[in-house]
Amino acid sequence: MSKKAVTTSKLKQMKKNREPIVMMTAYDYPSARLVDESDVDVILVGDSLGMVVLGYDSTILVTLEDMLHHTKAVTRGTRHALVVTDMPFLTYQGSIDETLKNAGRIMQEGMAKAVKMEGGSEIAETISRCTQAGIPVMGHLGLTPQAVHQLGGYKVQGKTDDAAQKIIDDARALEQAGVFAIVLECVPDHLAKEITQTVSVPTIGIGAGVNCDGQVLVYHDILQYASSVSPKFVKTYANIGDTIKHAVSEYAREVRNRIFPRSEHTFYTKESNEVKQLYGENKSS
Ligand code: KIV
Repeated sequence: MSKKAVTTSKLKQMKKNREPIVMMTAYDYPSARLVDESDVDVILVGDSLGMVVLGYDSTILVTLEDMLHHTKAVTRGTRHALVVTDMPFLTYQGSIDETLKNAGRIMQEGMAKAVKMEGGSEIAETISRCTQAGIPVMGHLGLTPQAVHQLGGYKVQGKTDDAAQKIIDDARALEQAGVFAIVLECVPDHLAKEITQTVSVPTIGIGAGVNCDGQVLVYHDILQYASSVSPKFVKTYANIGDTIKHAVSEYAREVRNRIFPRSEHTFYTKESNEVKQLYGENKSS
């Protein structure tokens, strides 16, 4: 029996039922297929792809065209999970018309079911206009990587009372604006717990402790897939990078020692003749 596709209302119901929400990033067709087939609820086409797939040192260089290209591949590989795509840097801070056009492209061309935007009360009006237009929006508070240079680095946020209160107020503003969920990144456990108890929409934590309604991690980080960072909040579940390096080195060794290809990988005369006949080269013989 095919499983029902995850919807934004299902996520709200999961919060009510205290059922943890599992979210994970994916960036292309194979990663989307593997994540979707692993029973994940939400696939995030994160702009972290700038760092883990494209080799940039921040998410700031990622463009709308990059996000569309990767979202199309992810949605082709997804049957069950809800696909959410990050709106990249400066694609939702301009005019509302421009924002609607950009978010609309992510849904119409990329076929994502929702978009994610980083920021608090300063983008609440924008979020409200998008949700009124039928675009589901996921919020993102705490460490917002697109603002890394303003924040002075990738640091835990909300450590002072004032900073914590600002994040709580922002979470309320996002809820009012109509987000269906909020990512809380790198905030202390007690703050994430308070926000989770305060807002009616699910919170999805990354470096925000166990009391959020769900968790999200980056595909390349949990698999150690050529990921160059290892923040405290990441748990490694497999070491795919070493497995790939081992396999490729083995292939290289076998080629250099003429061990590969073996007879089972090789075409011999019978097949060769058939091919020649196909092309009419053996007509006279
Ligand atoms: O871009 C991303 O992958 C994200 C997650 C880390 C939440 O925003």
